[in-house]
Amino acid sequence: QTKVVKIDPFQIDENEMKEAAELIRKGELVAFPTETVYGLGADALHPEASKKIYAAKGRPSDNPLIVHICKFEELVSIAKEVPAQAEKLADAFWPGPLTMIVWKNEKVPYETTGGMETVAIRMPKHPVALKLIEESGCLIAAPSANTSGKPSPTEASHVKLDLDGKIPMILDGGPVGIGIESTIIDLTEDTPMILRPGYITKEMLEEVLGEEVKIDPGIIASDSLTKPKAPGMKYKHYAPKADLVLVDGEAENVVKKINELVAEKQKNGLKVGVIATDETKDQYQADIVVSIGARADEDAIAQHLYKILREFDDWNVDAIYSESFATPRIGQAIMNRLLKAAGHQVLHV
Ligand code: TXA
Ligand code: MG
Repeated sequence: QTKVVKIDPFQIDENEMKEAAELIRKGELVAFPTETVYGLGADALHPEASKKIYAAKGRPSDNPLIVHICKFEELVSIAKEVPAQAEKLADAFWPGPLTMIVWKNEKVPYETTGGMETVAIRMPKHPVALKLIEESGCLIAAPSANTSGKPSPTEASHVKLDLDGKIPMILDGGPVGIGIESTIIDLTEDTPMILRPGYITKEMLEEVLGEEVKIDPGIIASDSLTKPKAPGMKYKHYAPKADLVLVDGEAENVVKKINELVAEKQKNGLKVGVIATDETKDQYQADIVVSIGARADEDAIAQHLYKILREFDDWNVDAIYSESFATPRIGQAIMNRLLKAAGHQVLHV
């Protein structure tokens, strides 16, 4: 009974939008596209509305939500103080795939921040997201619109699979552009720190801020002793049903190694999948070989990653081997997600 409404981002239907905005104002949930992944939205300043998000996703209640806004003044209205860095970053990257963490004021309920004194804020770039925020007149709390533990949705059909019957409406604006969640930067300490890598890189942030930006050691460590600062980064992340192993090295060696591993598994009667690139996909002898895109096309790799991981679950393979994609710009964000999906199993050849 979830209503799926197709919306053309370049010609937004006013009536459908009004209905969605009305739902948000009434404290209901609406899933909507952003430029990164689909979000599951509710009125951020309404504690009961935020609670519904946790229930629909099956999300632990101590994992805070990102508040989506459509004007910088809305950040000012919910922040305890506005760090100078926030203005610089907003000028450079908003609307866009950057989330900033600042100290919150009393307007923001603890239901939205998972009990924290800080709040995560982002101004998305997707026209449907911006229009929904504007039209509702609300600030919209929105995590990724997946069931907790699944990859973030990059198309409306993923949202429907996860949340059908649990929410009143999904706005279908087509596949998203970026495909991995926003970069999160924490501005509450002396040195700004990246809590989650994304499309906006450390170098891009440093250039705009003119100062050093750290990366949370907790997101690089593969041990469980160093805890990440963003609560969401510590939870057992999505892992495909099949055992996923990354193979890293020179292209030729990687293909050879993966084919050896595939042959070994197949000899034991197992069904094996490979995540390849356009350049290598014809060189593999696995049961299912999927290309994530051209190796040089980082944007395509990011865009296809979650969809491919979801597909492998449907194909019921026993093992998956993937090439590694430590590409120059968003490679860090891609590898962060892929390494977690693989439980940090990497073979260097
Ligand atoms: O691209 C995105 O950011 C998408 C779209 C929908 O905007 N949203 C998204 O939300 O990825 P979610 O809830 O899936 O991830 C939010 C992350 C979690 O890891 C959460 O723990 C962290 O942000 N977070 C939120 N508020 C925080 C805070 N006050 N302090 C530290 N981490 C915070
Ligand atoms: Mg999420």
